[in-house]
Amino acid sequence: MKERSLGSTGVKVSPIGLGCWALGGNSYGNIRDEESLGALETAWDSGANFYDTADVYGEGHSENLIGKFLKGKPRDKIFVATKAGWDFYPADRKPFQRAADASGKISHAGHHKNFEPAYLRFACEQSLRRLGTEAIDLYQLHNPSLEQIQRGEAVGVLEKLKKEGKIRFLGISVHTEAEALAAIEDPRMEALQVIFNLLDQRMKEKVFSEAQRKRVGILAREPLASGLLTGKYAPSHEFPKNDHRRRWNAEKREIDWKKIRLLQDVLKDQNISLQQAALEYILAFEAVTVVIPGAKTPAQVTGNLQASAAPRLTAETVLALRELYGNELVFKQGLIPR
Ligand SMILES: NC(=O)c1ccc[n+]([C@@H]2O[C@H](COP(=O)([O-])OP(=O)(O)OC[C@H]3O[C@@H](n4cnc5c(N)ncnc54)[C@H](OP(=O)(O)O)[C@@H]3O)[C@@H](O)[C@H]2O)c1
Repeated sequence: MKERSLGSTGVKVSPIGLGCWALGGNSYGNIRDEESLGALETAWDSGANFYDTADVYGEGHSENLIGKFLKGKPRDKIFVATKAGWDFYPADRKPFQRAADASGKISHAGHHKNFEPAYLRFACEQSLRRLGTEAIDLYQLHNPSLEQIQRGEAVGVLEKLKKEGKIRFLGISVHTEAEALAAIEDPRMEALQVIFNLLDQRMKEKVFSEAQRKRVGILAREPLASGLLTGKYAPSHEFPKNDHRRRWNAEKREIDWKKIRLLQDVLKDQNISLQQAALEYILAFEAVTVVIPGAKTPAQVTGNLQASAAPRLTAETVLALRELYGNELVFKQGLIPR
């Protein structure tokens, strides 16, 4: 795989990495650790060297598995990105009081947002321990609010951790265009993680060009729209209890399904699956450094890495997919949260 530069960091990484949320084991249905470790090894054997996780994925479990996988590997050839900001630690594990978050936001799993300096320092030490590494390659703030981004205090903590050698680069993962633009206003920002896929292309309007201009690397997350872009989840599909997709909005699922059928129609004579086209479409954007499809099994990893090994999307098809998003009525029905 031809590597791409991560913004101004001077680091090059594989354009397809591995998203490791599902490996946490409590958000994407049942998953076995042997399969997860197999997925990590398959990615590495196939030339992927970028792994994205977060401390909260399985409350440390995803990071623990990555720590196991890193053992005995050439550490300087593997790029590990993790995140902090969702506080899942029991109160008695922390050497300080929890400060109430201004947004008061609580995740579906009951975790609180926490970007307090003392908490971020504590969380970083815990991630270093679980990953069994001296430094985290990319440390990202995990979904801070617009106000928290604008305040810049949490980035200041990451800057100090960088000076101390605990992290190599700093970044942020956000939801909205306004948050993304505010994040890259900060000259200290080195990487920006955003949702970008065939069903949600908001970031290509302003954020991509601004990030390129400011030399901030882009990580494209949820590239398969959490699995929808495999075409295997019709609205009638029921997800198990331990799967976050169970909470998807029924109306939005119907709309997304119509979009998927339109996309499949564009691709019908192209000899490429929707899932691989979804990844190749993202790679067609120069602003994107790395796309991080989540995968639970070695077979899924292999399927995703085939996307860059044999690019098959023609410029005409890329344009057709782009126009479909911009012009087709069903794509304009708003982005109701899933
Ligand atoms: N706030 C944040 O910062 C945030 C939020 C979300 C994600 N992320 C990051 O982005 C990464 C990617 O997002 P995601 O994992 O949520 O969603 P995704 O990559 O869009 O979709 C992952 C799902 O697609 C299906 N899949 C993947 N490869 C496949 C293949 N080859 N064949 C068939 N099905 C396949 C699997 O579904 P099944 O499990 O149903 O088989 C898998 O769980 C995450 O792992 C995480 O690192 C970050």
